[in-house]
Amino acid sequence: MTIFLNGEYMPIGEAKISVMDRGFIFGDGVYEVIPVYSRRAFRLAEHLRRLQHSLDGIRLANPYGNGEWANIINELVERNEAQDQYLYLHITRGVAKRDHAFPNPPVKPTVFMMSNPLLTAPADLLQSGVGAITAQDNRWLRCDIKAIALLPNVLLRQMAVDAGCAETILIRPGSNNEPSFMTEGAASNIFVVKNGKLLAPPKDNLMLPGITYDVILEIAAANGIPHEVRRIGVAEVFAADELLLTSSTKEVLAITRLDGKPVGSGKPGEMFAVLHKLYQDFKRDVMRQNSK
Ligand code: PDD
Repeated sequence: MTIFLNGEYMPIGEAKISVMDRGFIFGDGVYEVIPVYSRRAFRLAEHLRRLQHSLDGIRLANPYGNGEWANIINELVERNEAQDQYLYLHITRGVAKRDHAFPNPPVKPTVFMMSNPLLTAPADLLQSGVGAITAQDNRWLRCDIKAIALLPNVLLRQMAVDAGCAETILIRPGSNNEPSFMTEGAASNIFVVKNGKLLAPPKDNLMLPGITYDVILEIAAANGIPHEVRRIGVAEVFAADELLLTSSTKEVLAITRLDGKPVGSGKPGEMFAVLHKLYQDFKRDVMRQNSK
């Protein structure tokens, strides 16, 4: 596997960073995960926009312009074999003496990118759906920043694995007697389907603004699928006809069991079938347009 580190391409085994890197010491950095289909980055402009938002959120200057990022990404895709890949892009505040405050003057950020083969869900998973559990969302109040400091997400996701499930759906306690509400998954966005309508939580500081989430809402709008973006109470999650999970690596999956009980019929529903097909069509159309 060839990776990119601080301006150079090299085999992963040769890549080295300092133990004083602020990413290692403080988790002081941000990342992106970008899917590549047929050797072309999907929704690159949107991923780079979200990267800029994350960098602004941690007050770190973007080391490259969008054109430079595109060149690095194309080069890395070129140097790796798989047709479909997922790129992991990671920027930290760099190497400095350990001090919580930013290094002053600033040091060079560490920029790392790797590519792995993108394996989308196998047919049996699409047919059966996946299990999920719920847990209290105990993360910070800037979940819109794609921060590399993922310890809460790691622990929350492991709870799902320990329960034989694929994902943990996160529930925030409401403030001022408001009911608790759903934010997202430990590593995905979550949609609720009720009476033929697709419900999505609003993009605010309590969830990651998913690129796949945006694609799903665009597809819904373009195809006349009833949908609404609003806060979703915990009771609505448990009363859902369908639950859907989205991310760049999982695309769209049906959640068919929640906390050990069937969701709706216990099988992937009509909304999942429609959106999954439209998502595949959308991907194909976008990739075809890009290749012209
Ligand atoms: N995670 N919410 C969280 C907390 C996530 O970590 C992710 C993605 C998403 C979905 O965003 P997108 O559709 O842009 O992938 C939502 C990636 C895949 C990861 O950390 O590996």
